[in-house]
Amino acid sequence: MKLLVVGGGGREHAIVKSLKKNPQVEEIYVLPGNAGMEKDAVCVNISAKDIPAIVDFAVKTKIDYAVVAPDDPLVLGAVDALEEQGIPCFGPRAGAAIIEGSKVFAKELMKKYGIPTARYETFSDLESALAYVRTAPLPTVVKADGLALGKGVIIAQNRQEAEEAVRSMMADKVFGKSGEHIVIEEFLTGPEVSVLAFTDGKTVKPMISSMDHKRALDGDLGPNTGGMGTVAPNPYYTPAVAERCMKEIFLPTIQAMNVEGRTFRGCLYFGLMITPDGPKVIEYNCRFGDPETQVVLPLLESDLLTVMLATTYGRLAETEVKFSDQYACCVILASKGYPKHYEKGFPLEIPAEAEKHVFIAGAGKKDGRLVTNGGRVLGVTALGDTLEGAIESAYALADTIHFENAFCRRDIGARALKAGR
Ligand code: AMP
Ligand code: GLY
Repeated sequence: MKLLVVGGGGREHAIVKSLKKNPQVEEIYVLPGNAGMEKDAVCVNISAKDIPAIVDFAVKTKIDYAVVAPDDPLVLGAVDALEEQGIPCFGPRAGAAIIEGSKVFAKELMKKYGIPTARYETFSDLESALAYVRTAPLPTVVKADGLALGKGVIIAQNRQEAEEAVRSMMADKVFGKSGEHIVIEEFLTGPEVSVLAFTDGKTVKPMISSMDHKRALDGDLGPNTGGMGTVAPNPYYTPAVAERCMKEIFLPTIQAMNVEGRTFRGCLYFGLMITPDGPKVIEYNCRFGDPETQVVLPLLESDLLTVMLATTYGRLAETEVKFSDQYACCVILASKGYPKHYEKGFPLEIPAEAEKHVFIAGAGKKDGRLVTNGGRVLGVTALGDTLEGAIESAYALADTIHFENAFCRRDIGARALKAGR
């Protein structure tokens, strides 16, 4: 089979490496991929947002199956456009991807179907939003409606911050059109858990749970990033919590989307907070998480392509989705200064022993050599029979990889370790 993966980061590298394990796979093309993936796939310089070019390439190359990984092309209708040309896909159509594409949609869905989430109000008018935050309980959470590269959420500790957040989104439009509508919601507390789930619209099969580390610096300090590391499973996701999530959140969400005529197929990501009142949804993503995928897929024992095809063709109920009972830890090596200002273009040295553990997010080529080309450069994932073992091995491997200005958090998994004891 000839496969196409749309996207270009560490998550896509992890997907490619897992798909390659299936002997039926002859070739994988990644659009656009990055130079760090070239040993595993053919990278073609087509933007993940250029839907006509993606479809054109897929048709000409006679792609048998396409995996659309990032949020942008899903929300823009890449799956719809590929399917129209007879190319089956992993991922939701645009009508279902809206669950991530519009926070207003997601919140209204949860309210309508009684799915637990933070209480909220939505606004499309600056003055009413400002009037609301002048009396709302603090801290208060202000969110831009649309995709904002994971940055459209501001937790305001006081009235001034809340007003600034509203103004920056609605008046200054720092997130562009995403800020035309905003959600202002109740601040929730409790540990966060990421659960990715395969679904074909009828059955939902959650993957192993994981924990992201979003802040740039040790001790959960510094600015929010795309994710500095992950561990799986997440100790806060106990069997009792899992059972409640299935009953109160996962199944009701899938059913709600069906009733709305927006059947979701692919990977639905539940960003959960385990509050004192039980698990609540913080956000939905219409895709695999990054860097959650880099710990979840290495623990998947079933064949990824078989499971993906089952979501496309409605066979998930009879398809086994089995995970190892090991632990995984992924440490992200980033360029110093990320997520703000950083330099790139430094030679990247990855010893052969580490290669199999590495998922490259941002690399380019200069004079035939791999060089850094992004804020998050790569992730190193190790497995272990204990979480401690997985963490130790991930750091031992990370320390064998070199590039100038590299930095990583030194406490990935520390909170999970403490909670698990
Ligand atoms: P996001 O950019 O959507 O991933 O959100 C960033 C982070 O903001 C989440 O991971 C949570 O830590 C936090 N967050 C979002 N909504 C709330 C909320 N209602 N209460 C507390 N924290 C929140
Ligand atoms: N790790 C969070 C995300 O993929 O949005």
